[in-house]
Amino acid sequence: MKVFLIGAGTMGTGIAQVLMSSSVVDQVYVMSRSREKAKSLIQRCIVKLERLVQKEKMSSEGLKVAVDKVTVVDDYHEVSNCSLVIEAVAEDYEIKKMVLGDICKHISEKTIIASNTSSLSITALAGHVRWPENVIGLHFFNPAPVMELVEIIAGAVTSEETRANVFKFVEDLGKKPVLVDEAPGFIVNRMLIPMLNEAVTILAEGVATKEDIDTAMMFGAHHPMGPLKLSDLIGNDVVLSIMDVIYKETGDSKYRAHPLLRKMVRAGLLGQKTNKGFYEYDNA
Ligand code: CAA
Repeated sequence: MKVFLIGAGTMGTGIAQVLMSSSVVDQVYVMSRSREKAKSLIQRCIVKLERLVQKEKMSSEGLKVAVDKVTVVDDYHEVSNCSLVIEAVAEDYEIKKMVLGDICKHISEKTIIASNTSSLSITALAGHVRWPENVIGLHFFNPAPVMELVEIIAGAVTSEETRANVFKFVEDLGKKPVLVDEAPGFIVNRMLIPMLNEAVTILAEGVATKEDIDTAMMFGAHHPMGPLKLSDLIGNDVVLSIMDVIYKETGDSKYRAHPLLRKMVRAGLLGQKTNKGFYEYDNA
């Protein structure tokens, strides 16, 4: 199976690693805003896969196969040779709409278009595609190579065939699929992101330090990492944009983003990707 992947950010990179490592995927075409970004995505995947080889979780032969199946492309022409297109560009409706419009010029009636949106409406996105019944949400979790779950989101007109094909594909990747009918935040983000926002509220109110908030949830609720660390991992900008979408879609004030979160995003304190968020990082 040939897959076309667009987007070389955190999620695009994680998804690329999953695709490269899968025996059901023969070829992965990667496209980004620039060739350099796409090349750097592949380099980051290779570093992670080499670590797996060092840990004897992947063979050197397996690494070679994974690396050989990925190709950087500068335009959408190879889309016509792929049965699946995964869009993992920025979580911005206008950008996704533009990308879908470009993809559309190269698809056939059989091409499935999956969006790795974390909160936007699949029905609305499908409205920009020639065969909207082929459009579906494919929501991976960060870090994608580690997290087992993938939410599969059906828009209002997504066909049963598209749903079934994507469900099987996710199972073949070795991931755990769950089916969701479109709703703001789907399942996980509807619960998880307001919890992270609540942690920001607790911090802003001076109820506890960031360290104690994180320690509390790790040792009192058995979360693998604290909510503020997790917000830094996801990206505080992504957390804010999901809160804003859920708030806008529901009109419910319980989903209002805390002003501290917004202020941090305006200051560029996005978390791990900018080396500074609630905590400081050294990813150099
Ligand atoms: N890519 C590949 N592998 C990674 C990785 C990455 N980015 N980060 C960690 N790993 C691997 C490590 O290599 C390690 O593998 P081994 O066990 O084989 O050695 C394993 O994952 C565990 O990593 P660490 O030992 O470094 O650290 P850890 O045990 O603390 O686990 C974690 C790190 C997996 C991130 C864990 O803390 C965790 O599960 N955190 C919660 C993550 C979470 O909730 N993600 C969902 C976010 S919500 C989302 O993504 C949706 C959205 O739309 C916003």
